[in-house]
Amino acid sequence: MQGRAALVTGGSSGIGLAIARALGEDGYALTLSARRPEKLEQAAAGLRADGIDVDAVPANMAEEQDVLDLVAAHRDRRGRLDVLVNSAGLGIGGPIAEHETRKLDMQIAVNLRAVYITTRECLALLKEAGAEHRKALIVNVSSISGKYGQSWLAAYSATKAGVVGLTQALHKEHSTDGIQATALCPGWVDTAMTEFIKEAVPAEEMIRPEDIAGAVRYLLSTSPNCVVPEIQFIRPGETL
Ligand SMILES: NC(=O)c1ccc[n+]([C@@H]2O[C@H](COP(=O)([O-])OP(=O)(O)OC[C@H]3O[C@@H](n4cnc5c(N)ncnc54)[C@H](OP(=O)(O)O)[C@@H]3O)[C@@H](O)[C@H]2O)c1
Repeated sequence: MQGRAALVTGGSSGIGLAIARALGEDGYALTLSARRPEKLEQAAAGLRADGIDVDAVPANMAEEQDVLDLVAAHRDRRGRLDVLVNSAGLGIGGPIAEHETRKLDMQIAVNLRAVYITTRECLALLKEAGAEHRKALIVNVSSISGKYGQSWLAAYSATKAGVVGLTQALHKEHSTDGIQATALCPGWVDTAMTEFIKEAVPAEEMIRPEDIAGAVRYLLSTSPNCVVPEIQFIRPGETL
């Protein structure tokens, strides 16, 4: 897709990086963002080594000004936005009875509030792309725990359910502008985020980040008449 551009948050590792790589391989010019600059730059360098056009823009998604600056940087550099991928996120486990407010607030800030603000700030550019080709796309990385709340992950589950609700509302408000919105809802994916569970669920039995990236390719391959509101990804034997 020469001449098209994408913005990927959480792009320095895991699911965001796999989606960024797929989009870059398919010709999208990328703005890649994440919190830690060094890790982000390393990821961007890896993509550039494979011929992908990448700008790396660090941002702490918990800070509104960082989000505004990120979108402005993308707008200034690329001038258009065809695909927005909201993948930045974190999970902090623990029983509800013991979960400190600061942990709740951090997950709400990054997993939900930042997705809302980033999307809001990108809508004008996405509308322009939608008017041009009727296939602008917002990919919100939710979780299977946003569909079926999980014990020990209550705050995380609640933020991810919020992302599903936001995605549904986006469809109602903006699908006739040529902007499609999809919530991706995976179970365990083999990334840095799932290191803590890999003794119980071996990495090789987890969903691959490339599986999620392949789904984004699929979403971009359908006709403008076909909206996919949500995709769930689970493992063999997984109970919901
Ligand atoms: N892995 C799974 O099993 C799974 C399942 C369902 C949904 N998800 C969701 O998938 C998304 C990506 O997670 P992942 O599995 O790919 O994990 P990951 O490899 O740990 O990647 C997380 C990404 O989010 C960024 N990030 C975290 N906090 C941030 C903040 N405050 N500001 C900016 N960027 C921040 C990280 O950057 P830094 O490293 O610099 O902080 C990193 O680029 C998340 O939304 C997660 O909730 C994951």
